[in-house]
Amino acid sequence: MTKLTPVLSASWDQADSFTIEGYKRNGGYKSVAKALDMDPDAIIQMVKDSGLRGRGGAGFPTGMKWGFIPQGDNKEHYLVVNADESEPGTCKDTPLLLANPHVLVEGVIIASYAIRANHAFIYIRGEVTHVVRRVQQAIEDAYKAGLLGKNILGKGFDLELVLHVGAGAYICGEETALLDSLEGFRGQPRLRPPFPAIAGLYARPTVVNNVESIASVPSIIDKGAEWFASMGTEKSKGYTLYSLSGHVNNPGQFEAPLGITLRELIDLAGGIRTGHRLKFWTPGGSSTPMFTDEHLDVPLDYEGVAAAGSMLGTKALQIFDETTCVVRAVLRWTEFYKHESCGKCTPCREGTWWLVQALKNLENGEGTPADLDKLLDLCDNIMGRSFCALADGAASPIISSLKYFRQEYLDHLSNGGCPFDPHASTLFASSEAGAR
Ligand SMILES: Cc1cc2nc3c(=O)[nH]c(=O)nc-3n(C[C@H](O)[C@H](O)[C@H](O)COP(=O)(O)O)c2cc1C
Ligand code: SF4
Repeated sequence: MTKLTPVLSASWDQADSFTIEGYKRNGGYKSVAKALDMDPDAIIQMVKDSGLRGRGGAGFPTGMKWGFIPQGDNKEHYLVVNADESEPGTCKDTPLLLANPHVLVEGVIIASYAIRANHAFIYIRGEVTHVVRRVQQAIEDAYKAGLLGKNILGKGFDLELVLHVGAGAYICGEETALLDSLEGFRGQPRLRPPFPAIAGLYARPTVVNNVESIASVPSIIDKGAEWFASMGTEKSKGYTLYSLSGHVNNPGQFEAPLGITLRELIDLAGGIRTGHRLKFWTPGGSSTPMFTDEHLDVPLDYEGVAAAGSMLGTKALQIFDETTCVVRAVLRWTEFYKHESCGKCTPCREGTWWLVQALKNLENGEGTPADLDKLLDLCDNIMGRSFCALADGAASPIISSLKYFRQEYLDHLSNGGCPFDPHASTLFASSEAGAR
């Protein structure tokens, strides 16, 4: 049985874990003092050696990304932290920032120093006002403690950190749309190349990293690259936050080495909702192809999940038991993608609208079996033919649900409507849970 490895979440049960005093008592800001005495390139090498891969979805090696920033170019460099976290099911950065915002601030200082940036930004999802306040307070406290601003800890490094609150668009989590939004424009993805490392924010070399990626850096500086690399699997190193939601008895964040399986995580989460069984789940948020109970033993690392036909994504494990109508769940997600499509390209803008219409008809039991192929045809015209990965994410749940649950779609047609009780799948629908 794989054991939990609480690092980022180690202090979450302490009442003052989010304060600078609480963070320092737990050894916080030790790493920044150590890092500022190191050569910046040595920090980049250490992060490379640790094997840390981006936790924002794609799993790109973090040290390598930092290494792309041209040095000695006499240009301003920027670090931008992606705290937009808006994908359905994805809910790790928000609790991390609420419980321990200083670990991100410390990671920002170290990463900025490594890439020679004197300005850093945190782009945060606007809806989470309580988290915005908490991160803002952490930044103010870090300034007061001499950890931000001029001549940090007397070591000659200057850093200004700005918290930017987004206006609530999922597409602004896509790194180039985020940069446009940060510059004050409408958030829409940019054509690449040039990549942000060459021409990012204000056309200057920019690193965009996820909250969890940057928050993982202080522990690597403190305990070493080997310590980090000793956890996880051959190509997916370290620990990470797995977020279990939906039909499990104890949903929440489970910090564990990469490669743990869903079977183990469900055990840790107290099992599937009592009296029920697993039907389908997402390994990395709603944009990743769904899995079923056949996949309980797939190692949840980048390679294991890809080999089984999906993506690790943000490790957002949404669990659905047998009471859930897969067509309805997929329709809900598709409505989200239609709403969030930024409209820049036709296959996504028009295609997601048509997907919703087709799924609504099927959920209502209207149409013929040929409509299932039409749905797949629509997906085929969207997937890989759109400007950014939002559209691929919209097609993924549809294609995968048809792969595993085609009969359930057909049952809607033969039944003349949804064969499921819409209330049965609702959490807290039972009288016992409803009393909570
Ligand atoms: C539609 C869309 C939304 C995204 N939303 C987020 C997000 O909220 N947070 C995030 O870190 N990455 C998000 N990403 C991925 C980013 O584009 C980028 O890959 C990531 O921030 C890089 O950080 P990392 O290397 O640390 O993983 C999104 C991508 C797409 C296509
Ligand atoms: S794929 Fe969708 S979200 Fe991405 S650029 Fe095109 S319209 Fe916008």
